Amino acid sequence: MLACPICNEPLNAVDNGVLCPAGHRFDRARQGYLNLLPVQHKNSRDPGDNQAMVEARRDFLNAGHYAPVARRLAELAAERAPGRWLDIGCGEGYYTAQIADALPHADGYALDISREAVKRACKRNPQLTWLIASMARVPLADGCCQFLASVFSPLDWQEAKRLLSPGGGLMKVGPTSGHLMELRERLYDEVREYTDDKHLALVPAGMALDHSETLEFKLTLDSSQDRANLLAMTPHGWRASAERRASVIEQAAPFEVTVSMRYDYFVLQ
Ligand SMILES: C[S@@+](CC[C@H](N)C(=O)[O-])C[C@H]1O[C@@H](n2cnc3c(N)ncnc32)[C@H](O)[C@@H]1O
Repeated sequence: MLACPICNEPLNAVDNGVLCPAGHRFDRARQGYLNLLPVQHKNSRDPGDNQAMVEARRDFLNAGHYAPVARRLAELAAERAPGRWLDIGCGEGYYTAQIADALPHADGYALDISREAVKRACKRNPQLTWLIASMARVPLADGCCQFLASVFSPLDWQEAKRLLSPGGGLMKVGPTSGHLMELRERLYDEVREYTDDKHLALVPAGMALDHSETLEFKLTLDSSQDRANLLAMTPHGWRASAERRASVIEQAAPFEVTVSMRYDYFVLQ
């Protein structure tokens, strides 16, 4: 199912890598992933999330703070029972691994443009095909997936549509307007309002919203390390002032925040 990122021809497995009929060869990294992001498709030396962001997210998620979010995503994936699926913008693979556990017989793929992310993610489940690749040029054949996941990530809607087979769908998970409200109130004098359904206007013709739900729960962050990780894995880590961030991280009392997620599932008709 892999397609050459240079000429789009099928990639076939060879010793320790993949090769297309035109002779473009990509070796498997020691950790097990394939790098299908040719240098001419990179717009910076190290695109995507950097090591600090990836490690902060890994530590925060591994602590289980968003476990209900992953659990619900895995349930929604299992209900759809795809033969082949792809996690687009998989980061360090926390959600990907739980989708994989819920779909033990399916053929699973995951990609991210960040090497630091994929290098760590692939340790979570060696059975999956882990790729360094861009979501704008996904190195997979047209119509080969029945389920796509996009969790807290940017998304190229046309590429997502191209990858789906008819009847297949894309599960997009992202924050609602109330997500982490207590944190945002502490970080900013004026909390920026945003609507959480802007993406609905981007859905390409031929795809339609099939299911929508929200998940909300309270989370208590006791340790300053948890609070520092949460800031480092969100835009608040650079958007808020250093003083406000430090006061959130260093406060003595445990800190309660609302986690509020929106799941939208779009089907290719
Ligand atoms: C906020 S993180 C979410 C990661 C993961 N889905 C999670 O929720 O833990 C967004 C991810 O999108 C990746 N990303 C950004 N632009 C990308 C692109 N053009 N192609 C593939 N991945 C991209 C980043 O490297 C980052 O890992």
